[in-house]
Amino acid sequence: MEVLRISGGTCLKGDVQISGSKNAALPQFAATLLSNEKSILRNIPDLSDVRFMGEILSELGANVNRIDNTTWEIDPANIIHCAPYDLVRKMRASICLLGPLVGRLKKAEVPMPGGCVIGQRPIDLHLRALASLGASLTLRQGIVKVDGINLKGNYIFLGGRHGSTVTGTSNAIMAAVLAPGQTKIECAACEPEIIDLCKMLLKMGAKINGIGSHILQIEGVDKLNGCTHEVIPDRIEAATYAIAGAITNSEIQLNNLNIEHLGSFLNLMNEVGVGITKRGTDSILVQTNTEKLKPFEMITMPYPGFPTDLQAQSCALACMADGISIVSEKVYPSRFMHVPELLRMGADISMEGASCIVKGQKNLKGAPVMASDLRASAALILAGLAAKGETWVQRIYHLDRGYDSFEQKLQALGANVERVSESKLPKSF
Ligand code: EPU
Repeated sequence: MEVLRISGGTCLKGDVQISGSKNAALPQFAATLLSNEKSILRNIPDLSDVRFMGEILSELGANVNRIDNTTWEIDPANIIHCAPYDLVRKMRASICLLGPLVGRLKKAEVPMPGGCVIGQRPIDLHLRALASLGASLTLRQGIVKVDGINLKGNYIFLGGRHGSTVTGTSNAIMAAVLAPGQTKIECAACEPEIIDLCKMLLKMGAKINGIGSHILQIEGVDKLNGCTHEVIPDRIEAATYAIAGAITNSEIQLNNLNIEHLGSFLNLMNEVGVGITKRGTDSILVQTNTEKLKPFEMITMPYPGFPTDLQAQSCALACMADGISIVSEKVYPSRFMHVPELLRMGADISMEGASCIVKGQKNLKGAPVMASDLRASAALILAGLAAKGETWVQRIYHLDRGYDSFEQKLQALGANVERVSESKLPKSF
């Protein structure tokens, strides 16, 4: 296994190119299965989750080719309806296969995704959506078996205890576009990744109204064609780099992002005192005096609220602010595995239910830490960049699931970061 060694305290300078969005790309890989024609996806990030998804589609019988670094061609002419357990269990997003398989083949067998360190991640809303469309569902030996032979348009309510569901909305849409008749989805998620999926489906010939709102109206069509689609930039990656700049007293420019997708984040940056200058529609300049960062209160919410996928990174930011910040989770109330690791670095954080109270103090110290999940890895790396001394982040395979070339991009900004074998981890500190 590899670890990331970070020598903190360096100011960053230069430009970062933001990659395509992981959470937009993964359901779009699944969406290609809705047609029997070839599709081409562009601006695809180089991530282990994307490669897993490519492997799963291959196992399903699709012809999957990575044409260049960011372009994939998928020919799903001959696919089967049973997704392989060995690959599916590695990635929760593979649940996105349900909708397209049921939509096109009128049947699906997809293993239940396992538990997850960020908290309970049930799929009851996904199943409710398919049942509303007339599918019959059984769970046998951990495999969700769906018979969608009688699939037809209907009313679907997607609200749950924590709001809507992002991948559940993708599944409902993808099943409904090929279900005869009209479907109305109420309480649909309206994340930019859902809008992007709908735009791709429109290119494939789907009929969807209300895109970007919580109510979607879909008229089922007989068949869909292949398409070429460019995935939106990754808003979470962009915001992660902005925080990296903010906590290292740096000046960096982020290119190839969509400023409109960053509303709640940029609002927080403004409150905290991070200098953000828009450069055209797809670049921002981040200029910060880390000494002057103000403490903040933030609650994660579904879009357009503050994303849960930036909560861990915001904790690292709060550690560098001048005062007490409160960071609250409304989407995954137990997504705080990064907190004990930040404590190892000298952070002053206490937990109160689904909130953490962070006393900013600007004297984080490097330490060996353990990444528990994707966004926690990013938070620990950010803290390592701001800390004095060396931080060793272990289990960085989590990072590789969702950040394209993270350490290379940081190195290009002048950060002192390198990936080394775990055997180099010092025995004592
Ligand atoms: N929920 C239910 N029942 C369901 C589905 C969800 O109760 O059937 C609950 C969840 O437990 C959670 C809330 O609803 O409390 C929202 O979950 P959602 O279904 O929206 O999450 P997801 O679709 O499984 C996607 C992203 C996550 C991101 C969440 C929330 C992808 C592939 N994953 O997950 O991304 O945190 O939406 O925005 O799009 C990440 O990138 O690090 C990541 C975890």
